[in-house]
Amino acid sequence: MLLGQQQPSSIKKIKCMEPILEVRNLTCGYQTQPVFTDLNLTLYPGQLTGLVGPSGSGKSTLIRAILGLVRPWTGEIWFRGRRLKPGVAPSLVGYVPQVETVDWTFPVTALEVVMMGRYQKQKILPWSSRRDRQVARELLERVGVAHVAHQPIGNLSGGQQQRVFIARALVGEPEIVLLDEPTSSSDLHVQHELLHLLADLNQQGLTIILSTHDLNSVATHLPWVVCFNHGLICQGQPIDVFTPANLEQTFGGEMVVFYQQDRILIASGGTSLRHQMQDNLPQILRPSNSSKSA
Ligand SMILES: Nc1ncnc2c1ncn2[C@@H]1O[C@H](COP(=O)(O)OP(=O)(O)OP(=O)(O)O)[C@@H](O)[C@H]1O
Ligand SMILES: [Mg+2]
Repeated sequence: MLLGQQQPSSIKKIKCMEPILEVRNLTCGYQTQPVFTDLNLTLYPGQLTGLVGPSGSGKSTLIRAILGLVRPWTGEIWFRGRRLKPGVAPSLVGYVPQVETVDWTFPVTALEVVMMGRYQKQKILPWSSRRDRQVARELLERVGVAHVAHQPIGNLSGGQQQRVFIARALVGEPEIVLLDEPTSSSDLHVQHELLHLLADLNQQGLTIILSTHDLNSVATHLPWVVCFNHGLICQGQPIDVFTPANLEQTFGGEMVVFYQQDRILIASGGTSLRHQMQDNLPQILRPSNSSKSA
């Protein structure tokens, strides 16, 4: 059974480890409106976890609470056995924001964006040492975008910008990195490459949690998924968690799940609009005409 906080078998083998992150009875909200109440969630070192749920369900709020950017109303967040101070940015936790929230007109190069992460870590004045530049360059190399180091960040593609921000998150040598919708503005190929990069970093020991709307990427690539909708709905391996019933409970609408060998494909349920919309196609483009002209 995967609902709630019970740990499925694949977690048992790492259960002897102390959790890296524990969210205990956490309630967060804005003004007078709670977003989630009494949330409990535990992550273990080395987990690579997808956080999925509908828009407005509180994924970013949870991520931002862990980062100290949203002050919880009640509850606690523990990192490596220590309670985090509410509203204070923890060290050793990296963050990759949603690209849509970044001001790309800010006149800085990719290298400078990474170095800014280093200044934040060191809390020193923003002039760079040779060592800072070297570390930043090495990180850009590691995430595969060293060739655009001197380009203005606003001129890069969405996928390149994501990688620069991953390099920036890594600059503080974090033990866990939280990414808010890292694949939202990329095409399928770039998404795939990004997930490979995250898998490589995870293999090197980094714990990763990423929020995403891309259920099929999670189903195909990630070993663990948390379904969230104003609270924890269920968690586990995608093969166990992505059932029509769990998806409906999470997203509130009918979903269909196709299994093909070790692949899982998820689509929204309900009737397809295609046949209905075909009548709106100009006569010449309708299927009967195209087959005649073929
Ligand atoms: N700064 C804010 N002030 C007031 N309400 C907010 C603020 N940020 C988020 N909210 C509200 O909190 C709720 C949860 O938002 P949140 O951004 O955490 O959802 P989400 O799951 O990340 O959504 P999405 O998938 O669209 O990014 C929403 O109703 C949203 O309108
Ligand atoms: Mg969000």
